[in-house]
Amino acid sequence: MAFVHIKNLLHKVIGLHVDTVGESSVDRAISHRMHATTCGNASEYYKLVKKDKLELDELIEEIVVPETWFFRNITPFEMLRDNALKSHVNFEKSKKYNNQYPSPLRILSIPCSSGEEPYSIAMMLSEAGLKGDDFLIDAIDISKQALKKSQRAIYGKHSFREKGMDFQNKYFNPVKTGFQLVKNIRDCVSFQRGNIITDSISPMDEYYDIIFCRNLLIYFDRETQQKVLNKLSTMLKCGGLLFVGHAESGQIDKNNFSKIRVAKAFSFRKKIARNFVKSSAQLSEHPVNKLKDIYDQLVEVTKKDIELSKKINDPKNRLMESYNNNETKNDNVFYKINSLIDGNNLVEASQLCKKSLKKQPENSEAYYYLGVISALHGNNDEAEELLRKAIYLSPDHHKALELSAVLAEKRGDNDGAKSLRRREQKARNRNS
Ligand SMILES: C[S@@+](CC[C@H](N)C(=O)[O-])C[C@H]1O[C@@H](n2cnc3c(N)ncnc32)[C@H](O)[C@@H]1O
Repeated sequence: MAFVHIKNLLHKVIGLHVDTVGESSVDRAISHRMHATTCGNASEYYKLVKKDKLELDELIEEIVVPETWFFRNITPFEMLRDNALKSHVNFEKSKKYNNQYPSPLRILSIPCSSGEEPYSIAMMLSEAGLKGDDFLIDAIDISKQALKKSQRAIYGKHSFREKGMDFQNKYFNPVKTGFQLVKNIRDCVSFQRGNIITDSISPMDEYYDIIFCRNLLIYFDRETQQKVLNKLSTMLKCGGLLFVGHAESGQIDKNNFSKIRVAKAFSFRKKIARNFVKSSAQLSEHPVNKLKDIYDQLVEVTKKDIELSKKINDPKNRLMESYNNNETKNDNVFYKINSLIDGNNLVEASQLCKKSLKKQPENSEAYYYLGVISALHGNNDEAEELLRKAIYLSPDHHKALELSAVLAEKRGDNDGAKSLRRREQKARNRNS
């Protein structure tokens, strides 16, 4: 019975679901600590571990699985780099044109284990040309031993098991016990001990742009996973990215996150469910809530649009015949642009639109997609301007009319929005 109590304590404190690590491993760890503390039986040990915080830490060390390595599954790091580069362009633009100094990209790695994950993030961003001031990386784990290792930053061959990477020679120096990471990369990461179950992790809500929480949720039961995901969602900015481990993506709550369809990235974008935004008039007036709301609507419009365009571009689909834009016929570039937007590759999508416009300056689809991309970047004025061009070139462009209506509403122009919606409905009727 005392063993059961100890396991319940572990569940309460670190969220551990015993079945996920195996009953026998947990029993072994408890027996090992009983022996080390010379407790005669499990009841005695339970009394000790309940009141002695240091012994509880020792037991936790015994149980956790610190398995990690540099660039573990490379795709999330590549995606992070592409996103960071996009933000960096906006960051530089903002400095140059608005004379403002926007906050750097904030990234959280939890759990960070012995540091391989957050250091991989730092190496990737520095490879991409970002400087130390452009980003902040917080790294958190419950294990004191793992954190100690991350401070020494000396690693053996198991940490370098990702194939085809050429970073070891560039960023590590051989020392007696392994390879030590260079100081300028070490300095990019702030390590801290923390427990995702019981501690408050971020200094404020919606603080991080990107969160890596990989290979932790697998150790929790469904209810604990949900609580942790809600916590991560609160810490993450609206539109921010969450990366999880490959066995964890099925657990992500579809109300709070939308999946980004990039193979092997296991990544999600935070959205705001309608019921999350409080209905009080006062709250909805707050600029942050307005932003949440508009983001949500944009995601919905874009999703519908992506589905529709997939149908339009499918040669077997009759919709192709009825769609009024001649320029999209036989041209699958917009299918590609859709997929790029869907996969969050906004820079590449925008480049393709511009290329299309060079070839065909009166291409309403290209203006429409540029409008979608601007809106996703939060540049709503620019988005409306681009959508106006799309509508001018194709007056029945119902998707551009629909998105323009959303943006007009958000600007407070309800009459304008109503008129756009009427036009949208008429255009849809004509196209059906
Ligand atoms: C398998 S490692 C994952 C490391 C890294 N994210 C990766 O994917 O390579 C799991 C880590 O979770 C940490 N951990 C377990 N429970 C935790 C908790 N409640 N809060 C914070 N860290 C925890 C462990 O100490 C361990 O280092």
